[in-house]
Order: sequence, then C-alpha cells, then structure tokens
Amino acid sequence: MSEVSAEPVPLPPPAHVAIIMDGNGRWAKARGLPRVAGHQRGVDALRGVVEAGQEMRIDYLTLYAFSSENWKRPPREVDDLMGLLRLYLRRELRELHRNGVRIRFIGEWWKLAADIVKLIADAEETTASNTGLTLIIAVNYGSHREIVQASKRIAAAVADGTMKLEDIDEANFARHLHTDGIPDPDLVIRTSGEQRLSNFLLWQAGYAELVFMDVLWPDFNKQSLQQAVDEFHQRERRYGASSG
Ligand code: FPP
Repeated sequence: MSEVSAEPVPLPPPAHVAIIMDGNGRWAKARGLPRVAGHQRGVDALRGVVEAGQEMRIDYLTLYAFSSENWKRPPREVDDLMGLLRLYLRRELRELHRNGVRIRFIGEWWKLAADIVKLIADAEETTASNTGLTLIIAVNYGSHREIVQASKRIAAAVADGTMKLEDIDEANFARHLHTDGIPDPDLVIRTSGEQRLSNFLLWQAGYAELVFMDVLWPDFNKQSLQQAVDEFHQRERRYGASSG
C-alpha cells in the first residue's frame, strides 16, 4: 500500500489580481521627503510585485497607476508621475519582455503626451505574443467613463443597425470595455488602509474579493502579496449562491 502524504496541496493563486497602489504621499511625508520620493519608491514596489506575481504564477496583474481623477493633482506632481511612467517603460521593457511578460494598458492612454503614447504602443506590440504574466497598467483610467463610452458605442451600433437591442447582454457589454479579453479580477487589493474602489474596475470587480491592507504602497512586498492571497484563499467564494 502506498503511503498517503500529509503535505497540504498548495492552493492555486487567483488568476487575476488587481491592486490600487495607495499611500506613496504618506510614506514620503512620514520621512520628511517630497511626494515624488514616495512615487519613486512606489515604482520600486511595483517592480517587486511584478516579480512576485511571476514567481507565484499569477496570470494577470492589474495596477492602478494613474486615474482619470489624478489630473486634479498639482501640475508638478502630474509631471512627476508621467516622468516615472516614461522612465519605467524606457528602462524596463527589455527585461519584462525577456521574462515573457505581456504588457497591456487600460484607460485613455492615447490622450497622454505623444512620446508616452508611442512607448505604450511599442510595449504592447513588442510583448503581444508573450505567454507569461499579463501586466495591465491602468493610466488615465476611470470606470465611469469606460462604462459610459461602452454604452455610447453600443447605442451607436444599435442606431446604425449593426446590433439589435435584444442582443445586448452582459457578455457583449463587457466586450466594449477596455478589459476586453481579460478575465475579471478575482482579488482586488488596496493599500494604505483606505477602503474604497475609487472608480477602479467597477464592472469587472463585481465578484472579486476585496482585501484592504494597512501597509503603504512603497512598503508593499512579496510577503504582503502572499498575505493578501492567503486572505483570498480563506474566504468562501460563493458567487451569490448559498453555501449548501
Ligand atoms: C497613490 O499614492 C499612488 C498613485 C497616485 C499612483 C501610483 C503610482 C506609482 C506607483 C508610480 C508610477 C507608476 C508607474 C507605472 C511607473 P498617493 O499619492 O495617493 O498617496 P497618499 O494617499 O498617501 O497621498
């Protein structure tokens, strides 16, 4: 008789983890540093979490880098954030590509500065056939706008006769969102203790587990991600059904 191993079988990671990276400003303030220093350390944390996501074999990782509301920040800070995005794409595309990462952007990224638009288009094109982690970066993203635009496109299709009113359903509505082709997130994490979705993936996160963590984004590391995934595994996921 063969021996039965007592080792617990590791649970598979959530396929899609989405993160609201919050707390860069507070991290910097606590150290008497300018806000940009918090954002710079935020990029380091982002790099770490992409590596950790690959190690943990997460399929999709979505990061909220710049919301459509973030334009209200002082112009200097907006410039700093755009500068960091520019730098990230210039410096890290090669390494991400070598690691098989597929990069996608959501949000109205085509409205950013022309050179950033080019970097983004290039990053998406270069990595389009990669089969490793899909890294989705949300820039100039806001769910309300995304949903309104999807509705307008559907309304126009009905008006010009290419779509029938009775054919509108959840699946084809979702196909008009920026996340077309990407499965909905299983887990949404927000750092810094705030407990809001802030206009992030409102349609897509309908059934996601939400995990709010007290850690400020620049301090978020592999252990923090593992902690959130452990919490995810502990929750019963019933999709609105009874536990039977
Ligand atoms: C929230 O901190 C964080 C952001 C507004 C953006 C996150 C951006 C990065 C991690 C860097 C840029 C991204 C890329 C892809 C290179 P906060 O400033 O709102 O912090 P606070 O609430 O403590 O003030």
